[in-house]
Amino acid sequence: MPVITEIADLKRIYKRRVPKMFYDYAESGSWTETTFRENTTDFDLLKLRQRIAVDMTGRSTASRMVGQEVSMPVALAPVGLTGMQHADGEIKAARAAEKFGVPFTLSTMSICSIEDVAENTEKPFWFQVYTLKDDDFMKRLFARAKDAKCSALVITVDLQVMGQRHKDIKNGLSAPPKLTPASVANMMTKVPWGLEMLQTKRRFFGNIVGHAKGVSDGSSLSSWVAEAFDQALDWERIKQFRDWWDGPVILKGILDPEDAKKALSVGADAIVVSNHGGRQLDGALSSIRMLPQIMDAVGDKIEVHLDSGIRSGQDILKALALGAQGTMVGRAFVYGLGAMGEKGVTEALTVMQTELDRSMALCGRRRIEDLDPSILLMPDDFATRWKTAV
Ligand SMILES: Cc1cc2nc3c(=O)[nH]c(=O)nc-3n(C[C@H](O)[C@H](O)[C@H](O)COP(=O)(O)O)c2cc1C
Repeated sequence: MPVITEIADLKRIYKRRVPKMFYDYAESGSWTETTFRENTTDFDLLKLRQRIAVDMTGRSTASRMVGQEVSMPVALAPVGLTGMQHADGEIKAARAAEKFGVPFTLSTMSICSIEDVAENTEKPFWFQVYTLKDDDFMKRLFARAKDAKCSALVITVDLQVMGQRHKDIKNGLSAPPKLTPASVANMMTKVPWGLEMLQTKRRFFGNIVGHAKGVSDGSSLSSWVAEAFDQALDWERIKQFRDWWDGPVILKGILDPEDAKKALSVGADAIVVSNHGGRQLDGALSSIRMLPQIMDAVGDKIEVHLDSGIRSGQDILKALALGAQGTMVGRAFVYGLGAMGEKGVTEALTVMQTELDRSMALCGRRRIEDLDPSILLMPDDFATRWKTAV
């Protein structure tokens, strides 16, 4: 059993274990990947203020996200094709999350279906929907999520059109993987992954195949995806989705203060400041750099979460210090899952909680609600360097 002390350890094992096609799918951003890279490097620009001789006993990372108790303010982000990173991946990640006491968010584009995850877990999870054109399909998804007792709905609002990731096109990404000479040659070096995959029947998009009209297998799915996303999406439509769900609604993919104000006006309970992990608009600023402006615009009126670029408990601490009430992690948990299944997700969460707790202590704070910007040292122009060009 390898010794895991940081997220990078999990990433190394993940890279060895999972077929290249799925590693590349996670470990990439759109076009030049500038936003993808800056999501992490911008966290490094923020420094922490060391304080001493402060009572550090009785610390806790416990907090609340959309009214729900969490052992630390971190939710697992919705990640499509998680069940290709590890057999039954969504179920494994959801189990790790529930045992750890943090929310798991199931993507619409998951391999395990809503029902699969509900049957194999005990606590409610969150469900993520994309904004699709087909009302009947959307209403059925909402009803299925309700029947599965999902405790919050995450509506992803930053994917009317899809960002292009070069590697996915070159690799011919598909689920299950297409058998080409290159993919077969690569998969032959990933024997444990392949053997586990052979033992599960969950290898297609479980929420879609057999549920959306005309989609019966992987090949009809790709044409459905191209057609299904609503390019005409507007705030009225978002409000309609909000009103179809009678529990907490989280709008994910807000990166501009103006949009944050609109999210407030349609009655969202929370927003996730996010650029989709650098997978949508390449050239957009990092989420952490946009956070201060968004906090100024709506921070006292709506719960604000942040994702994109979090790879450590210190990153979580920085987002919380700038005012976020919660965070989401995508790749950091995928590395753990791909490396060692449920145990790897637990390892990823443990590493981040330890880093969060210890850094909080060294900054002289004992509780999440005590965090504020005064624990940070920040370049003068961190939030103001780039201004609207008018
Ligand atoms: C491989 C992968 C697949 C993703 N699939 C989805 C998805 O199906 N729905 C969604 O709302 N966001 C999706 N996202 C975005 C994540 O929810 C989240 O915003 C992002 O991963 C955060 O950045 P991080 O990976 O740097 O933590 C995906 C991200 C990755 C890396």
